[in-house]
Amino acid sequence: MTNPIQIAIDGPAAAGKSTIAKIVAEQLGYIYIDTGAMYRAITLKAINEGINMASNEEAGELLLRTQIDLEPSDNGQLVFMDGEEVTEAIRTQQVTKAVSEMSAHALVRERMVELQRQLAESRGVVMDGRDIGTDVLPNAALKVFMSATVEERAQRRFADNQVRGINTPLAELQEEIAARDKMDSEREVSPLKQAEDAIYIDTTDLTIQEAAQKILTLAQERMA
Ligand code: CDP
Ligand code: CDP
Repeated sequence: MTNPIQIAIDGPAAAGKSTIAKIVAEQLGYIYIDTGAMYRAITLKAINEGINMASNEEAGELLLRTQIDLEPSDNGQLVFMDGEEVTEAIRTQQVTKAVSEMSAHALVRERMVELQRQLAESRGVVMDGRDIGTDVLPNAALKVFMSATVEERAQRRFADNQVRGINTPLAELQEEIAARDKMDSEREVSPLKQAEDAIYIDTTDLTIQEAAQKILTLAQERMA
């Protein structure tokens, strides 16, 4: 048995992070942690409670009284907020449009990062997000920065939405993705950026399997 490692996967929206991270985790027998789902869950609660999302204090206080749990299942990962399953409810356009504002707050990030580090403690883990390689797991044995053209990413999200019965036009989706990437990259606290020691993978012309295989090969090298 080789020692389990930590794998950090970062990148902009709809680059393929969670789909590919899930496959890699499954192949290695590791746990998968979707940190975006955690930011989406707290955003959903803020919307439900009418919290002022521009306030660092209100957002931070909200997180203190919120329980977020991730549970593996046959169809991927289930997300729970205060015991209620919100896996689908966190994917609406309303949550998607608000999540970058909520996750820019220092208090929210501080508490989320603490939680994420606890989840990853002393086990093999694949974690995806925006700041995993730069902030959450700076000593991860393998860091990947995954991207694809914004046109391709909008197409992919469009297809995802069709399955969910969400009918946002493609052009609007592309704008939303570009705006969110901009906010995520320009925020002061742990912005989206490639870690110096991360390996860049462009998934524009790769199949899901090809991208997963690239990461698995890199992981095997790191474990050796
Ligand atoms: O799936 P998608 O790429 O649309 O986004 P996500 O991974 O679910 O993340 C939703 C949002 O959460 C991002 O746009 C970021 O604003 C925030 N996020 C973050 O700030 N840090 C992370 N580690 C993960 C997500
Ligand atoms: O987690 P992130 O937002 O980066 O992306 P995702 O939700 O894993 O992927 C968005 C969509 O793109 C999913 O439906 C994937 O199946 C698809 N995808 C693809 O078609 N080709 C790839 N190479 C990667 C992802």
